[in-house]
Amino acid sequence: MTLGSPQPTVQEGKATFAVGNAFYRPQSVIARDLAVLAAAVYRQRHGRLRVLDAMTGCGVRALRYGLEAGADFVWANEGNPDLAATLTDNLAPLPAATYRITHQDANQVFFACSQQRDLYDLVDIDNFGGPTPYVTTGLWATRLGGLLYLTSTDGRATSGHDPGGCLRTYGAYGRSHPAVHEQGLRLILGHAAQTAAARGLGLAPVFSLFTGQVHRVMVRLVSKPTLTEANYGFVAYCHGCGHFQTVDWRHLGRVSCVCESFQPGNAVPTASNLVLSGPMWLGPLHDGATLAAMAALAEGWNWPAQAKQLAIMAQEIDLPPYYYPLGELGRRGQMDIPNRDQLIAALQDRGHRAAIPSVDWQGVKTDATLGDCVAIAQAMATQSSSGPQRAPSEP
Ligand SMILES: C[S@@+](CC[C@H](N)C(=O)[O-])C[C@H]1O[C@@H](n2cnc3c(N)ncnc32)[C@H](O)[C@@H]1O
Ligand SMILES: [Zn+2]
Repeated sequence: MTLGSPQPTVQEGKATFAVGNAFYRPQSVIARDLAVLAAAVYRQRHGRLRVLDAMTGCGVRALRYGLEAGADFVWANEGNPDLAATLTDNLAPLPAATYRITHQDANQVFFACSQQRDLYDLVDIDNFGGPTPYVTTGLWATRLGGLLYLTSTDGRATSGHDPGGCLRTYGAYGRSHPAVHEQGLRLILGHAAQTAAARGLGLAPVFSLFTGQVHRVMVRLVSKPTLTEANYGFVAYCHGCGHFQTVDWRHLGRVSCVCESFQPGNAVPTASNLVLSGPMWLGPLHDGATLAAMAALAEGWNWPAQAKQLAIMAQEIDLPPYYYPLGELGRRGQMDIPNRDQLIAALQDRGHRAAIPSVDWQGVKTDATLGDCVAIAQAMATQSSSGPQRAPSEP
């Protein structure tokens, strides 16, 4: 124990801990909750869970993996040695043989793991900025079939506000458009899948989460590359008409927008204003079976908010890699913001797939075109006698 007056403590899940001088964001609790659920599911499936929490801060994750996910062993590493006393006190409730605390650079830890063939079932990397300096090395510490949890706080690069920075970080050009929150997840997944593929390995998404400022993806390391020409490509957005489309490598030189055909006889596109983002991951953001197992656990633990988040993620799995914010539909259709749930129901009635985008609960993710969405929303507005519809209030 450290001397002096006891520090105030925080409760999160089953963990009670002091923050001290560590960086700790209470708002990121959902990211830790989902990671604990995924880790607990992994423990159920494999009968084993060894975790490397490479940037542990005050140790909240290490503690929660131990107390809630039933981790057999947790390595809590934190680069800042000034947090040693806080970490030592916080992890004291765990049995002594089940954890270890170190203060090294995360990449040194990953090198050591690789050299000693000391591989982990879950490697959690909660960095500041982009995750790319830790992806190759993090893989060295992850066992085949194990999980890697990546973080990006670099929203400026992924949202098209710094495409050059995005290119340097992710090897992909990120442009600005209405679905950039999802783009952030797809850029991380694409970079990680390509990094693994270059080593003859594959990464399969487990879940992907955007919490307002931070993008996170949990992926599973598999023995064969998952990256293909079909699931790693480009998203095109037309600033002229608002239409999204995916573009594969073979058609990069022949991208045109639907709005060009609206002008008969006009051989040279004038109305469209296309931007291309990528390459990025175009495949599913989540694994349905794991989400279902996590949701069952969340129900059993009486975690309704987490179960709801997982249900929303599950519904978007097979939908296109972009979405339309409700405000954007209102602006394009020169109408009040449409009611989300009515619009989703109307799209489904007309045979489209439609769901709430997990990254923006004030939007619609669908295989319908923007034109279809606007037309349906306009018809809804005409039918409605009660004036402007209220937008859903939850994030
Ligand atoms: C975002 S905070 C971690 C928060 C913690 N995981 C949580 O959920 O509350 C990032 C932590 O990583 C540490 N860190 C940053 N770069 C590092 C590196 N290269 N190696 C090890 N630790 C690092 C920082 O000192 C900081 O405590
Ligand atoms: Zn267009």
